[in-house]
This record gives sequence, structure tokens and C-alpha cells, in this order.
Amino acid sequence: MIPVNQPLLNGNEKKYLNECIDTGWISSEGSFREGFEEGFAARVGRKHGIAVTNGTAALDAAIEALGIGPGDEVIMPTFTIISCIGQIVRAGAKPVLVDSDPITLNMDAGQIEARISQRTKAIMVVHIFGLPVDMDPVLDIARRHGLKVLEDAAEMHGQTYKGKPCGCFVVISTFSFYPNKHITTGEGGMIVTSDDQLVAGCRSLRNLCFQPERRFVHERLGWNLRMTNMQAALGLAQLERLDEFVARKRRMGARYTDLLSGLPGVQLPLPCTDYADNIYWVYGLVLDESIGVTAEEAMKRLAAKGVGSRPFFYPMHQQPVLKRMGLFKDESYPVAERMYRQGFYIPSGMALTEAQMETVAAEVREVLR
Ligand SMILES: Cc1ncc(COP(=O)(O)O)c(C=O)c1O
Repeated sequence: MIPVNQPLLNGNEKKYLNECIDTGWISSEGSFREGFEEGFAARVGRKHGIAVTNGTAALDAAIEALGIGPGDEVIMPTFTIISCIGQIVRAGAKPVLVDSDPITLNMDAGQIEARISQRTKAIMVVHIFGLPVDMDPVLDIARRHGLKVLEDAAEMHGQTYKGKPCGCFVVISTFSFYPNKHITTGEGGMIVTSDDQLVAGCRSLRNLCFQPERRFVHERLGWNLRMTNMQAALGLAQLERLDEFVARKRRMGARYTDLLSGLPGVQLPLPCTDYADNIYWVYGLVLDESIGVTAEEAMKRLAAKGVGSRPFFYPMHQQPVLKRMGLFKDESYPVAERMYRQGFYIPSGMALTEAQMETVAAEVREVLR
């Protein structure tokens, strides 16, 4: 089976991990954790990095730190992962959805303004699959309406928007380091911000809201979201190679496009927009309904030929758990619904070889013939 993802861990990962074991610095205390936070924050043009256990935890803490609570509304894309919405709902706030652009797959900024109400507190931007959201229109709307913006840059390591790093545009941004990301810590995430108050809030939330003066007396409820020094050791070794990894993924994306172009009824990822070049977090295909094959069917046929694949996100407005809570009644977002029905991604991991890509492309051509 050609796996849908496989990381590349052949730099300083072993050396730094051995150092943790040899010195005993294996909890969340330690120089790798500090170095990874500082190095990653600097890379995205931020003062502070707060390393946490995963990208979902980073979003949870960022939403809590922004003070999003009962009665607030947060505008966000329906086409995203459940991680984006969990804490909004748990905090008693209301997620308000917009559909996606059918070509970039990112949230359609043109739909945001119509969704703003007296209760809107924030806009959550989620960059999808390798191209960033067109930020200028979003930032303009936020400025005019006095809204905070939260940026989920989980999939955007090393990506830029108009030359500026993703993760630097708004008050607070989050990343994931799951092994399918451009750099990985196994499990892991990071919040980045330059706001001194927010960083204190996030650090406290990460560490159970212990108080320095009265350690076991709590004024707020937090979580234990601490990243270990061992995870950060991996992260630092990976961060050293981020430019190389971005270049590698861009080469892989271009190669897949060479191999798959001209396939009738198949939409390939956009190589670039006027504000960014694709970094191909994953290489996603969207099948035209006219060819009579759904994503589910195509993935089944590929699996039978030993090629791994994954479906696109299932839209938030169709999630059973959220519908049972009475959310999104009678709401429909046709682009996101079609993306789920017709979209899937093929093996896209950092360790994928040229020969594997050729095999994958040949099998894709075969099963869609
Ligand atoms: C856009 C987006 N946000 C959040 C996450 C959650 O990150 P994690 O899996 O580290 O919790 C992911 C994970 O893939 C993601 O793609």
C-alpha cells in the first residue's frame, strides 16, 4: 500500500531525542521546548510561541484566551475540521458559517459581511490544503466592524501571503504538528501571538491555570496542554529543514500536476494565486459530477490497487453531533457539500518517492478512465 502520508525524520531528530533521554529532560521543561517556541515564533514573525499538545488544543486555548463565550458569534468556514468548532460550541458561543470558493477551497470572504450581526465577536480564518485565504478582504471587514480575527494556520508551515508568513496577520494564530504536516512533532501544536496579555493567558490555560503565588488555588479552569521537550526536540530538528520541506512539497505538487493534467472531469489544485504559491499540504482532487464517480467510489477503487487516499472534510453544518444540538437547521452550503462528495486527496507525505508518485498517478488515471 502506498500510504497517504509518511514523514521524513532523517535530520537531527534522533540526535536531539537522544539528548533528552541522556539528560533526563523529558517533561515539558527543557531547552528544546524553549528553543522550538522561540524558533517557530521567529519564523512566522511573532514575539511569542506557546507549544501545546496538538493543533486542536491550540485552537481551544486561543478561543478561550480571546474571551469568546456565551452569546458571542464567530464567523468561520463550514469546510474545515471539527477542531475549529469544538471550543466555540463548548464555550456557549454560536458558530456562524460561510461557504468556500470552489477553486481555492478556502472560505469565501465575499460571504462574510452578510453574516455579521450585533453579536459577532470574531472571524476564524482557516487556510485549506496549501493555499492561504485571501486575507486582505477579511482584514478589511474585521477592521471596519471592529472584529477580532483568529487564524488557523495548521496546514500552512512555511507558506506566505503577499510575501508575509502565514501566522503573522492577526492577533492570534495556531498551527498543528501532526505527522502529515510540513514539520511534525508526532503530536503537537503551537499558538503564536505578539500580544503580551494573550500570551500570558495562553500559557496559563496550557498549564491548568496554576497561579505562581498560590499554586493549587485556581481562579480559572485551564487544561494540561503542555508539549514535552521530546516532542519539541523533534520539532526543532524539523524546523531546521522547513525551507527544504516546502521546496520538496512544491516540487511534488508540480510533478503530480504534470502527471495528472488533462484528465477529463478532474479539478487539480491551483498552483498559485496572485498572493501565494501552493505549498501542497495535501494534493486534493475534485471530480466533476459529470464523470459519474464520487470520491467514495474513487477511493475504494484506489484502495483495491494499493493506493491510500483520504476524503475531504465533512462540512460543519452537516455534522450529526452539531445538528443534534439544534445548530445549522435548514442551512445549506453547496460548494462544501460538493467538495465532500467529490473531493479526496492522494498520497502526499514528505517521504513520497518519484516512483510512488508515478504509480499513484497511473492508478488514478486507470480508476477514473
Ligand atoms: C485546518 C486544521 N486545523 C486544525 C487541525 C487539528 O490539528 P491536530 O490534529 O494537531 O489536533 C488540523 C489537523 O489536520 C487541520 O488540518
